[in-house]
Formats: sequence, C-alpha cells, structure tokens
Amino acid sequence: MSIKVEYISKLYGKQRALDNVSFEVKTGEIVGFLGPNGAGKSTMMKILTCFIPQDAGQASVNGFDVASQSIDVRRYVGYLPEHNPLYLDMYVKEYLEFIAGIHKLPNKKQRVDEMVQLTGLEIEQHKRIGMLSKGYRQRVGLAQALIHDPAVLILDEPTTGLDPNQLAEIRELIRRIGQQKTVMLSTHIMQEVEALCNRVIIINQGRIVANDETSILQQNNQNRMVVLVEFDKEPNRHDLKRLPGVEEVEQLRGNTWQIITAADKDIRPDLFRFAVDNKLTVLEMQREERKIEDVFKELTGKKKK
Ligand SMILES: Nc1ncnc2c1ncn2[C@@H]1O[C@H](COP(=O)(O)OP(=O)(O)OP(=O)(O)O)[C@@H](O)[C@H]1O
Ligand SMILES: [Mg+2]
Repeated sequence: MSIKVEYISKLYGKQRALDNVSFEVKTGEIVGFLGPNGAGKSTMMKILTCFIPQDAGQASVNGFDVASQSIDVRRYVGYLPEHNPLYLDMYVKEYLEFIAGIHKLPNKKQRVDEMVQLTGLEIEQHKRIGMLSKGYRQRVGLAQALIHDPAVLILDEPTTGLDPNQLAEIRELIRRIGQQKTVMLSTHIMQEVEALCNRVIIINQGRIVANDETSILQQNNQNRMVVLVEFDKEPNRHDLKRLPGVEEVEQLRGNTWQIITAADKDIRPDLFRFAVDNKLTVLEMQREERKIEDVFKELTGKKKK
C-alpha cells in the first residue's frame, strides 16, 4: 500500500476541514482526488506530505508514518503544492540544483538535465523562474517534485491554468510517470480524471463521499440505461414510447431522441427495427455513459430541500 489514511481529522479553529477520513492508494495507481472548493483536498495533501499535522487519526506514505517519520516520508514523496511556490529570482537550473542539494543527490547536474528534458523545459532552461509563463512554472514545479525519483507523487491541481496544448503535454507526462509511480492528484477537470485516473476519491465538506474505480463510477448503475438516437425524420413519439421496456422518451434537439429503459433492457435492436418499420433511417445511436461530472454533482451538489 503506498498511501494509507485512517480516521484523519483536521480542525481549523472550530471548522472541521477533514472529518474522519480514511482511504488507501495502492502502489502503481493514479488516483484522482476530487471535491468542491474548500472540501479539504489541499489540507489532506499537506498532511500526507508532512507540511501540517493532523489533529486525529494516522496516515502513512510508502509505509512511513507522516507524523513520526517525516524525513523518510519526504524522501519517498514528490509534492507539487497548490500554489507552487517557487523562487522567482532563481534561474531554472539553479533552482533545480538547489532542490537536488536539499535531497543530497550525488550527481546533481546530470539529474537536473534529466528533469529539464523530462518536463520539456529545454527552451526555457536558461531563464529566471519569474520570467516563465504559468505552464512553464508548473513544469518547474513538476521537475522539483520528481528530481529525487520518489515512489509516490502528490500533485495538487497540476494542470490548473494551462493552455490546451500544455495541458495535453503535462497530462501525457503524468500518465508516463504514472506507469512507474503511485500518483495522487487533485483536479477540477473531470475529463482529466476520465483520461488519467484508475480510481476516483471524492471528498465533500471534509468527508469521503466516493471511492471507486473510475470505470465503476461511470457505469450507469441507477437501474436505467440511456440511449441517444438520431433519425433522419421525426418519428411518432407514441409509437416510440410503446416499444417494449421503454420508460421515458424525450426529444433533445432536432430528430435526436433520448430513450430511457431499465438497465437490463438494451433497446438498440428494437430501435433499429422500429426505424425500418417506420421508414426512418438511424443516423446515429449511442448508449450514454455516466460522466464523472454527473457523479460529482450528485454527491457534492447542494441538496434540494
Ligand atoms: N490555514 C487555514 N486556516 C483556516 N482555515 C483553513 C486553512 N487552510 C484551509 N482552511 C479551510 O479548510 C477548508 C479546506 O480547505 P482546502 O484548501 O483543503 O480545500 P480544497 O479542497 O483544497 O479546495 P480548493 O478546491 O479550493 O483548492 C476550507 O474551508 C478552508 O477555508
Ligand atoms: Mg486546494
């Protein structure tokens, strides 16, 4: 187990930022840590990286206790903090050599060059950090998190503020790194989770509200199946509704219809036959997956009274 969290609570004054939080991250997983603003994500990550202490419970990273074995934890963990505090006056390589020095790495220069290459910093490597764009600063942050080749990476919103090209590159980098390491990352970008993470943990108001494999969360497990179908002409709504197993029929736009059935009723063959019988052509048909965004909204949205 790479990360083990048991009954962690954290109080800020009277506010319970984390309330009895428990979860585990297995070695080799890329886990997405989701939650609305103020849910407690950064707080949890700061505890796991020994930046702040918890008030109750215990946590270990790579087998080392975050409260009593912080030096070991830091040796095995790479951390990209939320606001990525960097020394803006330092040059990129100077800064990375400084970090390599903190970790007492033997071959500092070589390691810095490897990181520059890995994070795509080559063309900016001779600049001061303060001159860099946000995306490149983020790369410097990733380089410093990776320089000591940690087994576990904790990345707090690693792709926030990146342009679409940089975003794709950094995501690819995380995916590559994730093949050898355990990664826990927080993000507000749901496609990122769908693209990168095998597991999703959702936290809301300091409590874990979901912890499952991404594919399981995406399954439309609300006892219904949703199929979208586009015909070339308008079908007869009543005939559609009369197909076996159909519970709901809704015209979405133009001739695209949403058909809802029970989860175990695959209506698609019937829809094809319906089209043929009614001299309609099916232009497109797809079974809708539940999006992680929907799961997120269901679990963290304000409940209607
Ligand atoms: N140093 C602090 N003092 C007082 N309250 C704090 C402190 N740090 C965090 N909090 C509070 O703890 C709660 C959790 O904050 P945290 O930064 O962990 O949220 P988050 O999930 O990372 O949110 P975001 O998505 O906005 O980054 C918030 O209500 C925040 O105001
Ligand atoms: Mg945060």
